Amino acid sequence: MTAGLHPGPLLMLLSLLPVSEETCPSICLCLSDTVSCSSSGLAKLPRTLPSSSVTLDISHNHLSWLGPGSFNKMPRLENLRMAHNQLSALGHGVFQNASGLRHLDLSSNKLQVVEQYYFQGLWRLEELLLFNNKITQVEASALSGLSSLKKVYFSLNQITHFPFFSIQDHSHPFLTMLDLSSNRMSRLPWEDVKALPGLVQRGLYLHNNSLICDCSMYSMFWHWDLRGYDSLKDFTEEHTCSIYGDPRAAIRFLQHNRFFHNCTVEKAVSQPVTVLLSSVLVSEGETVRLDCQTSLSSNTTDLSFTWLSPSKGYITQTSINDTLISLFPNGSLEIPAAKVNDSGLYVCTAVDIKQALNATREVNVTVLRPAGESFNTGYTTLLGCVVTMIFILMYLYLTPCRCSCCKQPKPADIAIATYDPSTLIPVFSHSPGVHPKMHSDKHVAFMEPMLSEEGTEWTPESSF
Ligand SMILES: *[C@@H]1O[C@H](CO)[C@@H](O)[C@H](O)[C@H]1NC(C)=O
Ligand SMILES: *[C@@H]1O[C@H](CO)[C@@H](O)[C@H](O)[C@H]1NC(C)=O
Ligand SMILES: *[C@@H]1O[C@H](CO)[C@@H](O)[C@H](O)[C@H]1NC(C)=O
Ligand SMILES: *[C@@H]1O[C@H](CO)[C@@H](O)[C@H](O)[C@H]1NC(C)=O
Ligand SMILES: *[C@@H]1O[C@H](CO)[C@@H](O)[C@H](O)[C@H]1NC(C)=O
Ligand SMILES: *[C@@H]1O[C@H](CO)[C@@H](O)[C@H](O)[C@H]1NC(C)=O
Ligand SMILES: *[C@@H]1O[C@H](CO)[C@@H](O)[C@H](O)[C@H]1NC(C)=O
Ligand SMILES: *[C@@H]1O[C@H](CO)[C@@H](O)[C@H](O)[C@H]1NC(C)=O
Ligand SMILES: *[C@@H]1O[C@H](CO)[C@@H](O)[C@H](O)[C@H]1NC(C)=O
Repeated sequence: MTAGLHPGPLLMLLSLLPVSEETCPSICLCLSDTVSCSSSGLAKLPRTLPSSSVTLDISHNHLSWLGPGSFNKMPRLENLRMAHNQLSALGHGVFQNASGLRHLDLSSNKLQVVEQYYFQGLWRLEELLLFNNKITQVEASALSGLSSLKKVYFSLNQITHFPFFSIQDHSHPFLTMLDLSSNRMSRLPWEDVKALPGLVQRGLYLHNNSLICDCSMYSMFWHWDLRGYDSLKDFTEEHTCSIYGDPRAAIRFLQHNRFFHNCTVEKAVSQPVTVLLSSVLVSEGETVRLDCQTSLSSNTTDLSFTWLSPSKGYITQTSINDTLISLFPNGSLEIPAAKVNDSGLYVCTAVDIKQALNATREVNVTVLRPAGESFNTGYTTLLGCVVTMIFILMYLYLTPCRCSCCKQPKPADIAIATYDPSTLIPVFSHSPGVHPKMHSDKHVAFMEPMLSEEGTEWTPESSF
């Protein structure tokens, strides 16, 4: 599993490589901007490490303690791999002056509590790997300030409660993966989970916990299932809950839902659930009005409406206390001045209380920046192409042109989606920098190879 380092045959190679002026510990390998001291039997960090390093690999050692400012002589450090060590806690200021960190791997250690100061100041951190530790508790503000976070892995720990309320759209706008699978959560604070940003809900992994079967739990997963989230599709069998909390009476609730027949959400399933899908495209600052026209809309007097918005979570007539958005009695939602970050999938549920009928409507809202750039791209491209062609023709003294540069520009991607159950999967057109493709095939969430922005592969296991 481990790619152990055998310095012997590499010494010759090393002497040929340009190594930075700083001394490289004899036990490590220093290659351009990378230092690897993995599987070297280290019990503590080498005293000196090349200050120009971007990547430091000290995984598979025996480190049990890191002092304050352990990495403060490495101002360019971005990737720090410390998997498979013996760390049971991190002291204050370990990552002081290491604010350039983007990937931090602390998986397979012995951490017990993720304290609020652990990752303080790491505002550039994108990936945080904490799986396979002994974590029982994650303190409420442990992830606050990590505003660049994209993926965080807490799988294979003993977490019973997670501070979902600390994850909000404005605090973690890029978060698309929150892996809490294989922990010990028996009940989840569903109101907080429902309030998670849409992107986080889509990338929330909760399988193989000790969930207790109940209707509110089932209803949440039912909604995610309806939307075809990969977290459910890829781990259908691993989604279990226990009846009356008895671990021996565990059921795979995504496959066997007869235990939830008396849940209201199940009633809704037996009725035809109508989902109307449409798209809205506006420029920033414009007023957006989303009508909640469903199959129940012929008589709105008996209906109550709830909207699920990507940035503000659930919106109901009573919860609304916000001048930035209003909900009319007829179910229409109005955003007086749309912002780019209001983009995403809006889902309206109309409930007929008397007849216990629900119907939903989804609207895909895309808010464009006001500049007309994106609107006219097709035309501009065509024009640019024509001008280029003229220059080429002039250059070639009007030789016959066989160029194929004038491909038909792609039509703008604004097609109105019509209702089709197979295209129920919402695609949040939220923030730039979010990779829309997350997983195409089944795999263990936390094992996913990570790609940095430059596309260089970075896996938890070193293989130098
Ligand atoms: C760490 O950063 C602080 C302020 O950001 C600075 O005063 C201090 O000298 C730095 N320490 C080292 C060792 O670079
Ligand atoms: C959306 O962006 C505006 C600035 O354009 C900002 O004031 C607001 O807080 C953002 N909202 C969220 C939910 O991130
Ligand atoms: C479920 O979690 C337990 C630990 O809580 C772990 O030992 C087991 O391998 C996990 N099973 C799966 C299928 O992930
Ligand atoms: C549902 O309710 C009916 C009648 O109230 C009851 O007989 C049945 O056992 C319930 N089913 C479950 C799975 O709780
Ligand atoms: C709507 O329902 C109310 C009460 O059920 C009824 O009085 C009213 O006539 C209905 N309106 C229409 C247009 O069907
Ligand atoms: C709405 O907000 C105002 C001020 O922001 C506050 O005084 C009022 O109590 C809030 N109302 C509700 C129902 O939350
Ligand atoms: C709902 O009510 C609002 C405000 O009264 C109105 O502007 C809107 O057109 C209505 N929507 C529908 C679908 O009638
Ligand atoms: C469906 O309708 C019931 C009331 O009949 C309501 O309690 C439940 O929350 C609704 N489901 C959804 C998903 O809104
Ligand atoms: C929503 O709109 C965006 C941009 O127009 C598009 O990329 C995305 O596929 C749409 N999503 C759905 C579910 O139609």
